[in-house]
Amino acid sequence: MSVVIVVGAQWGDEGKGKVVDLFTEQADAVVRYGGGANAGHTLVINGQKLVTHLVPSGVLHPGKPCLLGDGMVIDPHTLLEEIAELQARGLLAGGELLIGQDAHVILAYHRLVDGLREDRAAGKGLAIGTTRRGIGPAYEAKAARRGVRVRDLARPARLRALVEANLDELVPLIQHLGGKPPSTGEVDRWIDDALAAGEKLLRYVGDASRAIADLLAARKHILFEGAQGSLLDIDHGTYPYVTSSSTIAAGACQSAGVGPTAIDCVVGITKAYATRVGGGPFPTELHGEAGARLREAGAEFGATTGRPRRCGWLDVAALRLGVRLSGMNGLALTKLDVLCGQPEVQVCVAYELDGKELDEPPQDPEDVERARPVYATYEGWGPIPKDARDLTDLPAPARRYVEALERLAGVPFYLVSVGADRAETISLRDPFGDF
Ligand code: GDP
Ligand code: IMO
Ligand code: MG
Repeated sequence: MSVVIVVGAQWGDEGKGKVVDLFTEQADAVVRYGGGANAGHTLVINGQKLVTHLVPSGVLHPGKPCLLGDGMVIDPHTLLEEIAELQARGLLAGGELLIGQDAHVILAYHRLVDGLREDRAAGKGLAIGTTRRGIGPAYEAKAARRGVRVRDLARPARLRALVEANLDELVPLIQHLGGKPPSTGEVDRWIDDALAAGEKLLRYVGDASRAIADLLAARKHILFEGAQGSLLDIDHGTYPYVTSSSTIAAGACQSAGVGPTAIDCVVGITKAYATRVGGGPFPTELHGEAGARLREAGAEFGATTGRPRRCGWLDVAALRLGVRLSGMNGLALTKLDVLCGQPEVQVCVAYELDGKELDEPPQDPEDVERARPVYATYEGWGPIPKDARDLTDLPAPARRYVEALERLAGVPFYLVSVGADRAETISLRDPFGDF
């Protein structure tokens, strides 16, 4: 038995979906632990593309249980759409799905408040650039102990009472933000829609935490799939430009109801460069032509919102922070192919602030503004062969880049990904095999 966590090491979109799909080969079950439909995880197998938002990216392996942890925030309509799409492809046919009954539910008013807040903040240049999926407002309701949970979708009277209590507080806020307060008919429709969705989802709902405990007792291999990335963590990320959940590895234990002693291995996922969607500091960002070139080469457009991703050089100082926060045993390096054709490749190896060199980025927003990234420069490389399956298949400068990153990050690489397809991977270590 071993338990492995896959966690984003940057600002999300590192290629977690691809790596989870690959690691599921050895796993007996996959548990998605963070966030909600703000995530978009893309899988490419033999040129066929699939994007998951809520269902774990292990779904392409029929018969392996796919669980949604209690720490998630679930939009029932998005989940139903995703299930329907997967079933149309012949997936999830054998009762693999289990939705944690204590996960929170995203309702229409969460999305409404998210959007109104963003619009208003944008006018003042303060927008976070959320995905507008209602993530923040749903986690706020949870923390305020007035949230709606998946189990409430089977209890019409309780659901109505909860929705009405929430709206009692939210309607003045909606008005303050310039929104139109919902009519009684609209609220009734929101409740009826949620109940109808709940009825369809009911067969998948259960005690996920207990199911995970049973898998552990049966000595099964369990893979935890993170969403977002370490630098978007509510406690340790680039606050306030973060999401509203614990995206670091500890979030897996919290969400799934599993003790930290159960975890054997944590693998962080990082691109060979960096991207970020939405607002917030990004000291290694490339602007203008250079950023656009990277965006084109890496097809860096959001899988959830379609927004162009901001692109820049890899920030190893930030990577070290991610490694530390999640206790990563190692990393998976993705999208190495995207850098080919660059005359030279730069990496931020440290920050300089007030004459001192820092091995991690400064945390205070004002210090971030003042700090200067210290760069190391590496020789560029030409095309990477599509069938590269060993480090020796890489052009020599690309191999030197990989070796330098391993040294700078201070942890070994589990794999190097050289293309979007499942097959385009150089496997180096087996996360389940170490135990
Ligand atoms: P996630 O949210 O971490 O799962 O990442 P996304 O799916 O949002 O974004 C990663 C994108 O890069 C997806 O379109 C993947 O298909 C693609 N991808 C993953 N690994 C590689 C790689 O090694 N090379 C290239 N070119 N694309 C990759
Ligand atoms: P995956 O799992 C990249 C970002 C948003 C915004 C901030 C807050 O695909 O890597 P939210 O809607 O969560 O309140 O937005 O977090 N964000 C992501 N960026 N990948 C993601 O998920 C993200 N999920 C949220 O762009 O900056
Ligand atoms: Mg993504």
